[in-house]
Amino acid sequence: MTDVLSAAPVREALADFAETMTETLDSLLPVSDGPEGRLYEAMRYSALGTGKFIRPYLVKTSGRMFEVSETSCLRAGAAVELIHTYSLIHDDLPAMDDDDMRRGRRSCHIAYDEATAILAGDALLTLAFEVLADETTHPDAGVRSALVTMLAARAGGAGMVGGQMIDLVSEHVDVDAALIARLETMKTGALISYSAAAGAVLGKAGDEAANTLETFGFELGLAFQITDDLLDVEGDEDDVGKKVGKDAEAGKATFVSALGVDGARREARRLTDRALSRLYVFGEQADELRAVAEFVLARKN
Ligand code: IPE
Ligand code: IPE
Ligand code: MG
Ligand code: MG
Ligand code: MG
Repeated sequence: MTDVLSAAPVREALADFAETMTETLDSLLPVSDGPEGRLYEAMRYSALGTGKFIRPYLVKTSGRMFEVSETSCLRAGAAVELIHTYSLIHDDLPAMDDDDMRRGRRSCHIAYDEATAILAGDALLTLAFEVLADETTHPDAGVRSALVTMLAARAGGAGMVGGQMIDLVSEHVDVDAALIARLETMKTGALISYSAAAGAVLGKAGDEAANTLETFGFELGLAFQITDDLLDVEGDEDDVGKKVGKDAEAGKATFVSALGVDGARREARRLTDRALSRLYVFGEQADELRAVAEFVLARKN
């Protein structure tokens, strides 16, 4: 394996990037001494924790392929990270996965309360679009509008939220691998698809490049969720920062429940290879993206 395709440099780059991303999010998240302050504290508590920031890192990596400015990448990355954080807060609620640990600390609704957690999620979701639509994100209003449309489509009923619905109605139900692929592509692949394609949109690289990266992102995102399913079975609680063994207990339909551990691992490899095959059109320009794909497969958290 060449250095470029090894996961280790990405792990280090992500650690550096986490500092920059945390500063960016810190500057975007509101503060208040007023009566709404509790909401802002809960938003900050969840967003400034110890996330891996893989989605904004993908935005930055794809942005670099098309010479996009750092500010544009960080803001388009912050937007998807804010939506991802909201999705995790709501995912942990008792009405959904009922998890009391997230990113190595108490879930938002445990540290605060359920109502505050719901509102923190709502406010993170709307803040994401406020950030994207601001002209600091990109001077061209057409580019900003395209990003808003893409993120809304990937985050909403036809994307992440729809996938979460299928996830919930599939608990304790015998569903086939095709439906599990659909639910995981929607709940996780969709936001990762936005992240991979955002650089092409910001860099005005054209529809073909954006569509190729979207497809790459959907496939990589599905592989990412399969590794999450595997980590729930094989991972270490301290490494992943959340409870493990919870999917089987909740009767979740996952790639591990459908194909077993070895089958799920093979499927994650197959999908990653398929995603990688999409990148040939970009030549060496996509080497950093290739390394991120290998990281996704090898990750332990
Ligand atoms: C966890 O996402 C939920 C999934 C979609 C699998 P991440 O593994 O990216 O979680 P953080 O952001 O690093 O905490
Ligand atoms: C969550 O999937 C995907 C989201 C859209 C939030 P999981 O429910 O498997 O994520 P974890 O394991 O709680 O992080
Ligand atoms: Mg869930
Ligand atoms: Mg969950
Ligand atoms: Mg999981």
